[in-house]
Amino acid sequence: MSKLVVINACVRQADSRTLRIAEPIIDALASRYQIVRYDLPEMDAVVPLTPALFARRGAGDTPSWALEAAKTIAAADRILIAAPFWDMSFPAVLKCFFEQTSLFDSTFTDTGKTCIGLCKAPRLLYVTTRGMDIATGDPREQATPYLKALGTLWNLGDLTTIAVQNTDYLSPEDLESHISTCIAQGLELAKEW
Ligand SMILES: Cc1cc2nc3c(=O)[nH]c(=O)nc-3n(C[C@H](O)[C@H](O)[C@H](O)COP(=O)(O)O)c2cc1C
Repeated sequence: MSKLVVINACVRQADSRTLRIAEPIIDALASRYQIVRYDLPEMDAVVPLTPALFARRGAGDTPSWALEAAKTIAAADRILIAAPFWDMSFPAVLKCFFEQTSLFDSTFTDTGKTCIGLCKAPRLLYVTTRGMDIATGDPREQATPYLKALGTLWNLGDLTTIAVQNTDYLSPEDLESHISTCIAQGLELAKEW
C-alpha cells in the first residue's frame, strides 16, 4: 500500500476549523494509503533547534524520533499538511518540525555544488484556513510559497492548497458553507490523488 504522511499543526486541536476540513479528507485517503500521522501539538519534542540540540546533531546524535520522521517523510508517496494561517504563514510548531526533520542524507543531501532532495512524494496537499480575506497566492500569504521552497530542497512534487479565507469575519452560515465546499473539494481530489 502507498504511504501517506499527515502533518497536523492545528494548535487549537478539537476547536480547529482547519482540522475539521482535513479529517474527512484524511479518512477518505485512509482506504488507499497507509498513514503515518504526526500530531505536532501533542509532540513535546517538537521544539526549535537549541544550542544543545544543534551540538548533538553536529556530533551525529540526532534525536531518534526526528531521524525516523525524516526517513518516513523521504519514503512517503504523498504528504498532507493541515495548518492554520498564523502570522501570515503557519504556526511555529510546523517550522520546528521541519527544522528537526530536514536532515542531511535523510530528506536531502548535496552534490558538492548544491543541495538535492531525497524525498519522492510527487504530490502534497496543504489544508488551511485564514482569518483575514487573503487568497492563496496573495503576497501576504507566506505559507504556500514556503512549502513550495521546502519542496525544492526535499524533492517534493506538486502542491495543492485547499483553503477557506476570511474565517474570522464570515457569518456563521457562510463559514459553514465555505467549510463544506472545501471538504467537498478535498474529497473530490482524494478520489484521484
Ligand atoms: C496566533 C494566531 C495568529 C493568527 N494570525 C493570523 C494572520 O496573520 N492572518 C490571518 O488572516 N489570520 C490569522 N489568524 C486567524 C486564523 O488564521 C483563523 O482564525 C483560522 O481560521 C484559524 O484556524 P483554526 O480554526 O484551524 O485554528 C491567527 C490566529 C491565531 C490564533
